[in-house]
Amino acid sequence: MEGLQPFCLIATAGTTNTGTVDPLSDIAKICKKEDIWFHIDGAYGGFAILADNGKQLLKGIGKADSLTVDPHKWFFQPYEIGCLLVKNHKWLKGTFTEKPEYLRDIEGNTSEINFYDHGIELTRRFRALKFYMSVKTFGMEEFRKAITYNVKLAEATEAFLRKSSNWEVISPATLAVINFRYNPIGNKLSEKKLDALNQRISKSVVDSKQALLVTTVLNGQVVLRMCLINPRTTLDDVKETIALCESFAEEKVLA
Ligand SMILES: Cc1ncc(COP(=O)(O)O)c(C=O)c1O
Repeated sequence: MEGLQPFCLIATAGTTNTGTVDPLSDIAKICKKEDIWFHIDGAYGGFAILADNGKQLLKGIGKADSLTVDPHKWFFQPYEIGCLLVKNHKWLKGTFTEKPEYLRDIEGNTSEINFYDHGIELTRRFRALKFYMSVKTFGMEEFRKAITYNVKLAEATEAFLRKSSNWEVISPATLAVINFRYNPIGNKLSEKKLDALNQRISKSVVDSKQALLVTTVLNGQVVLRMCLINPRTTLDDVKETIALCESFAEEKVLA
């Protein structure tokens, strides 16, 4: 209508706030029909493909032309190893190859991959080494187990919260992320007061140094967000943190 031509559609497989996965298969169909590039941001959620029901969680992820995954998130790697996967690596070459005079003597060997042809960096670190060594050392099975455990821990956390009349689940456990707020059934607190209370709970927990539980905002509400991707975190740790929240909440409500 305004003479603009869409050329790319970007979906998210695991949003930062809620772990939500866009309807990837449907979006892939639109991209195919319109002949536009389909990129998926799986920076956070992409590694859930390794979980027991990963294919179901990320249905359609294989249809992307390009996919971001960040091993420094849910593949337990130290900073920094952001990663882009493309269906056809020749596309990267077509975009990024430069042929300066000072590199001409090392060009021409087609059996060699020069990674500077695949991105904007010429000088680059060997980031893949730590990834490779982790898989070699621990084995892929350990990663599968850890990621499956994380997904299930968030689901168990949701079930625990739903049993209590003090807590409201705001977004259900999805790809190991869960959002909830303190909102006891029958209380007469306004939305504004609930926001302030939940913000206060988070601050008290952080100040106590017993857990790091911070907030986010969903549909205008201040909520507590747990992203449970530490494989050493247990359901007991989570329950202790929730009990701690309740003790601070009661202090505040009674004050
Ligand atoms: C879905 C998603 N995409 C992209 C990013 C950005 O990643 P980075 O901070 O590694 O650049 C994040 C970070 O949280 C994320 O969750």
